[in-house]
Amino acid sequence: MDPMNQRPPTRLVDACNRHLNYLRVSITDRCNLACGYCLPEEAVPRLAHAAILRYEEILRIVRVAVRLGITKVRVTGGEPLVRRGVCDFLAELAAVPGLRDISLTTNGVLLTETVERIRSAGVTRLNVSLDTLRPERYRAITGRDFFGRVWEGILAAESLGFQPIKLNAVVLHGVNDDELIDLARLCWDHPFHVRFIEFMPIGRSHFAGKPTLLAPEIMRRIAALGTLIPVPRSEHDGPARRFRIEGARGEIGFISAISRHFCDRCNRLRLTANGQLRPCLMSDCQEDLKGPMRSGCSDDDLAEIFFKTIQCKPSDHHLSVGEPAHVCCQMRSIGG
Ligand code: 5AD
Repeated sequence: MDPMNQRPPTRLVDACNRHLNYLRVSITDRCNLACGYCLPEEAVPRLAHAAILRYEEILRIVRVAVRLGITKVRVTGGEPLVRRGVCDFLAELAAVPGLRDISLTTNGVLLTETVERIRSAGVTRLNVSLDTLRPERYRAITGRDFFGRVWEGILAAESLGFQPIKLNAVVLHGVNDDELIDLARLCWDHPFHVRFIEFMPIGRSHFAGKPTLLAPEIMRRIAALGTLIPVPRSEHDGPARRFRIEGARGEIGFISAISRHFCDRCNRLRLTANGQLRPCLMSDCQEDLKGPMRSGCSDDDLAEIFFKTIQCKPSDHHLSVGEPAHVCCQMRSIGG
């Protein structure tokens, strides 16, 4: 046997030859909204404080991950901005050598008061969840009357020059699908990337059994605004298919997790708030990093756990219309 083949692997390349260079890090399972599509029917116990990774622990995992080829980290939750010390954490994350891209997904509720510190920490790319432009409806979807605060936060981010600002709208049949055009129009007046996300039946939510509006139909409706012109894929692109419309400053994107799987080019791993490494959003396969770390394991041991985890990355999530994913965890602890 060629002795070269016996060398331990140094890069995260899975059995389907997918190069995993993107780690999504959930820093908390807590959230200051209570969205119907995220909350389960019954109460889910929150993680105990001690079960949640400390920032130093997350940074250690990220450093190991960077050694293995991770170049891009997205901080998510729960709602990441509810965790104390998040801005200092973001600055420390941005200082990890080898990380090229740090982004944040937030519901925007606490954005106005944190956006300058987020920016000076070194985050330039922001995703804000925004499923409606109607304050009343915002309250109905999220359980909180925070539309005005969120919109103010988005505008504050725009004025600080975040680029891009992606606005994520989960399309919910019979709830906000009469607003597709209004949401899409936002990219006329602002340089926003408005992204329509197919609802994914993950965990047990109030929407689990409802019909799903799929991207082809969403696109058909939005095409009333003008021809959707495909934008060529670029290096940092995620799963969204991107389009521009003549005359618009921003873009429109579609994330079609159900109607058009993007698993063949999935480059992601996920770290949950309680220290589990997950190779796929739609699979319950996960490996524990927290336990070994707290019992004094070495960085090489952590690297081994990364390699073990990618072995169980499914080739495809097989999610399709009317078939709820058999995932026990809630989106809020995995990080969307
Ligand atoms: N299906 C699709 N998108 C979801 N999100 C949360 N839950 C779901 C779901 N079940 C979205 C949030 C957030 C992004 C990270 O994931 O709205 O913008």
